[in-house]
Amino acid sequence: MFGSPVQLKTPTQLAHMERAGHHVATMLGHVREAIAPGISTAALDQIAFDFLASVGATPNFLGYHGYPATLCISVNDRVVHGIPDHSTILKDGDVISVDGGCTVTDSDGVAWHGDSAFTVIVGEGTESDRGLVAATEKALWAALAALATGDRLGVVGRAVESVVEDHARETGQRLAIVREYVGHGIGTAMHMPPDVPNFASRERGIRLKPGQAFAIEPILSAGSPANRVLADEWTVVTKDGSNAAHWEHSVAIVKGGIRVLTAHDGGAAGLAPYGISPSPLA
Ligand code: MF3
Ligand code: CO
Ligand code: CO
Repeated sequence: MFGSPVQLKTPTQLAHMERAGHHVATMLGHVREAIAPGISTAALDQIAFDFLASVGATPNFLGYHGYPATLCISVNDRVVHGIPDHSTILKDGDVISVDGGCTVTDSDGVAWHGDSAFTVIVGEGTESDRGLVAATEKALWAALAALATGDRLGVVGRAVESVVEDHARETGQRLAIVREYVGHGIGTAMHMPPDVPNFASRERGIRLKPGQAFAIEPILSAGSPANRVLADEWTVVTKDGSNAAHWEHSVAIVKGGIRVLTAHDGGAAGLAPYGISPSPLA
């Protein structure tokens, strides 16, 4: 009932998080532009590492519980936490999820985190994969829009579930929510309380307050959501080999709504279909 307290950030601290978030957005943009048949996931990781170095930001995945790279790159049946390597070479039709983050430091030496992910298909892809990727992205934006008007964190899981249900009704495609991996609080650490589940439950969740920040990150599978971790102790794969998609943004709860910290436009384009505009940090 009484979980760990949720870190509250001042507008100035949220501005540091937004600075980190914009570096993450630019980094992921560079990676996205480089995605093409023939490139290795290690080469994509190098682009991310070099970009962060060029702006003086610090990779926050690298060394996290021993994680060996700047990005997690999860191709096809890899769900999350895929380790970039030289032998995974992208080919037409691959479904590739790229998750990345960084920190920037304030004048007191405190590091502020950003965390974001997207999924794209190399080339056109199958109708099923296009549905999977689009619905997962929609689940993210529906969840963010729900946070803008909602009063409890539980709106996230309900929004993700409704997108999955609407998608099944509209297209006949049944997607499954991967429940083992959840969003999280974010601030002076990448992973902070509370967990942010992508499914509805009887818990309404904590009350939303200005100054909170969360990473919202739905993960959907095109088949069964059952998954396991490979022997590298990181890579999560679906047990049935079906493809998965993962979209993530870091978002701040602010007076009057939300601001997406890992989008250059504060989330304006993604929230527009919901009739919502991002609010200023202060
Ligand atoms: N960024 C991931 C998440 O969205 C966690 C990555 S853990 C790492 O929460 F060790 F791989 F970096
Ligand atoms: Co992430
Ligand atoms: Co995250």
